[in-house]
Amino acid sequence: MEKQVKSKQRVTDHGEVFTAEREVKAMCDLVADECLRIDSRFLEPACGDGNFLAEILTRKLTVVKSKYRKSSYDYERNAILALTSIYGVDLLSDNAANCRGRLFELWNKEYTSVCKKEANDEVRKAAKYILEANIVCGNALSMMCVDEHQQDTEQFITFPEWTFPFNDARIKRRDFRLDVLLKENPDDENYDGQFKLFSDDAMNIDNWMIDPQTNELVPKPIREYPLVHYRRMSENG
Ligand SMILES: C[S@@+](CC[C@H](N)C(=O)[O-])C[C@H]1O[C@@H](n2cnc3c(N)ncnc32)[C@H](O)[C@@H]1O
Repeated sequence: MEKQVKSKQRVTDHGEVFTAEREVKAMCDLVADECLRIDSRFLEPACGDGNFLAEILTRKLTVVKSKYRKSSYDYERNAILALTSIYGVDLLSDNAANCRGRLFELWNKEYTSVCKKEANDEVRKAAKYILEANIVCGNALSMMCVDEHQQDTEQFITFPEWTFPFNDARIKRRDFRLDVLLKENPDDENYDGQFKLFSDDAMNIDNWMIDPQTNELVPKPIREYPLVHYRRMSENG
């Protein structure tokens, strides 16, 4: 059986009790259809070493394999798409690092076994690059990145939105502030009470823009990257 507690101190300091596999699977079953959608985005705000994210990624990769295993190119691109949809935050840097490592190992094992000789290090590097950006060491309550003592820094937690706008191998990255993204549905009762913890700066008009297609107010990306082949995305910095 997997260990649910690392030390009493960590439980006292950070409430660190990991969820058992049986419960993880049962909870993922509650959103079973979403877990099977390759591009459906999941954020775990206190991800630990990724118990939920690992289960979700496993389920997504099962779909990618069953649909695309006959073509290395299609498998590779869709396995990358699955990875881009997994997001996490944890206060402790060792947990965030373990989470990235665990998700990479899981992803790479499948990638290597399906693509065999066609599997290559350029794609593995791209997978690590995605995980570096998607699994953040931060405080999910204040929405700020933290230092090595788990104290808030001046840096907002940001997450990339990854899309394949032309349905080919070119990927687009746009980074958004998490606190601004979560303001997008201010009427959502799920966020009641939590809003008080967010910085009011999230509502500053400078963080929003009019979507030219829908004419609606939407979060403004804080950074946009050039469209690039997914194998070369780490060259964007
Ligand atoms: C109860 S464990 C759960 C881990 C994982 N979600 C699971 O179910 O196995 C709680 C995790 O939340 C992290 N944590 C505690 N406070 C946090 C905060 N304000 N922001 C982000 N992570 C936090 C801890 O470091 C720990 O890894």
